[in-house]
Amino acid sequence: MTTNVSPPQRRKFLFTMLGGLGALIGAASAWPVFRFLSPIAADDSGDKVIVARGDVAGGKAHFFQYQGKPAVVLQPAPGEFVALSAVCTHLGCVVAWQEQANEFLCPCHGGRFSAVGQVLAGPPPAPLETLVVELDGDQLKIG
Ligand code: FES
Repeated sequence: MTTNVSPPQRRKFLFTMLGGLGALIGAASAWPVFRFLSPIAADDSGDKVIVARGDVAGGKAHFFQYQGKPAVVLQPAPGEFVALSAVCTHLGCVVAWQEQANEFLCPCHGGRFSAVGQVLAGPPPAPLETLVVELDGDQLKIG
């Protein structure tokens, strides 16, 4: 048994197949561009940083990254935790913890902040940004 397909029918079939293949290749090529340009979806679970409670000894500062920026958590009193942005509010340098003085020092222009981020001296116009800390068992959930 033989089927006879006319040349115009074969051509139409070929163009349909090529069109479908072209659309598939175009969609596959456009997908990475679409993903790159799409806004990042907000995800509550990804906003918090988990720090082990044991990593934050009394009087010590534990630095970490929060949303791509330096942050710090410390335990000024037993069982009391404070988390702050470690970015100086003057011109954006990263503050350093001075354990002996119990305060933060900005190395750029000498700004000084208390253990809870309040400005003590120097040019910083505002306190360090405070981050929410939630104690959950042996973990600190920050952010
Ligand atoms: Fe911190 Fe100037 S950047 S005091």
